[in-house]
Amino acid sequence: MSSDHSAVEELTPVQLAVIESVAPHMRHNPYAAYATLRAAGPFVPGPHDMHLVTRHHEAQTIMQDPRWSHAEEPQLLHGDSEVELPGSFLWMEPPDHTRLRGLVSKAFTARTVSGMRERAEQLVDGLMAKMLADRDVDLLDALAYPLPLAMICDLLGVPAESHDHVREISTAIARGLDPDLLLSPDELAARTAAVHAFLDFFGELVEQRRRSPREDLITALVQADDAGARLTANELLGTLLILVVAGHETTVNLIGNGVLALIRDPDEFERLRAYPELCEPAVDEVLRYDAPVHLTTRTAHAEITLSGHTFAPGDAVIVLFGSANRDPLAFPDADRFDIARYARGRKSQRHLSFGLGLHYCLGAPLARLEMQVVLRALTERVGSMTLLDEPPYRPNVVVRGMSHLHVRLDGR
Ligand code: HEM
Repeated sequence: MSSDHSAVEELTPVQLAVIESVAPHMRHNPYAAYATLRAAGPFVPGPHDMHLVTRHHEAQTIMQDPRWSHAEEPQLLHGDSEVELPGSFLWMEPPDHTRLRGLVSKAFTARTVSGMRERAEQLVDGLMAKMLADRDVDLLDALAYPLPLAMICDLLGVPAESHDHVREISTAIARGLDPDLLLSPDELAARTAAVHAFLDFFGELVEQRRRSPREDLITALVQADDAGARLTANELLGTLLILVVAGHETTVNLIGNGVLALIRDPDEFERLRAYPELCEPAVDEVLRYDAPVHLTTRTAHAEITLSGHTFAPGDAVIVLFGSANRDPLAFPDADRFDIARYARGRKSQRHLSFGLGLHYCLGAPLARLEMQVVLRALTERVGSMTLLDEPPYRPNVVVRGMSHLHVRLDGR
């Protein structure tokens, strides 16, 4: 027996679950580890003196309490290494957070986003027609990537011929959002290269829009700066970075996870086809059941007592959204995928997949819209979906998802 093996044997089940809950090789199923952690308590000592927040009540309370700050996340996850990511409002607190989020929030209200439904339908129509003609596809490549990428690039004003370049850059940056200790030297180097490529590409686009304005979000940001909103060049690029990376890497997984859940549960797919009005609530059930973003961090800025535990100022926690969403104390039959859980008239706890509080996901209306359009199209055009092989998962811990989803699609 190797010494490594005996070292693993000496761990308690909870210690093993702590490791597995954030281990890149356990991405295909972190849920068993989460269950062990929840049973051990609402707070479990985790890596680097941070407590893992395992249950829904505590996760929700922390996310809504402004005494818990998100500004330290880059430092917590990336330590002393040169992250070189331009600062984004995701990692700021008021007043900077309020100023920068305010500049882009108009573009993402439910009303503005509903005006983008037609464009989403047009894109899904084309992608679906090609998938049905090809029959055997990697659904991530054929649908889950191109849709959100095209939507966010359209909104920003990135030309179609550059979408692939943007996808490549943003995939490497999304991997680099994971804690540095989980990244190989190659991945760290790839992140640095991707950040440079991002700054080159978007820096040039910003200059172009400054010279010749268009009807797009980059122009709006450039003009906000010119109008005296005091948006530094670094803040402008940081805002673009978070919109590009958060705006599509996450939605890719929402689409992939949703299709996978429906394939694994054909009765639920049948139910969706019989009651297409369930497409809207089904989106939230996919978000709850298999969250695209599995964790975030928060740091206490005061002494805070919660559920019998007192945190000192400076104490940090890892909030496990993926675990909170499966907490049986919050959700009856929590491990069951039930597309009607969020149907009108049913009182279900909110899931935490878009976060909560000050940093609640800005793009939630857009992500919901895209997924609704995908589900509608599946119910209208697809007769059956078959998994062609067990999907492999990317090693990403924060933004968790598959690397391929090979399926056979048969039309109705
Ligand atoms: C299924 C898709 C998505 C998921 C699961 C998701 C998830 C999240 C989560 C969990 C947060 C909060 C992080 C924290 O508090 O630590 C967040 C914030 C954010 N998301 Fe999303 N997101 C999605 C799609 C989008 C889209 C489409 C956009 C933009 C177009 C977007 C833009 C943002 C931004 C800008 C923030 C930062 C908000 C702030 O700090 O005030 N997201 N997202």
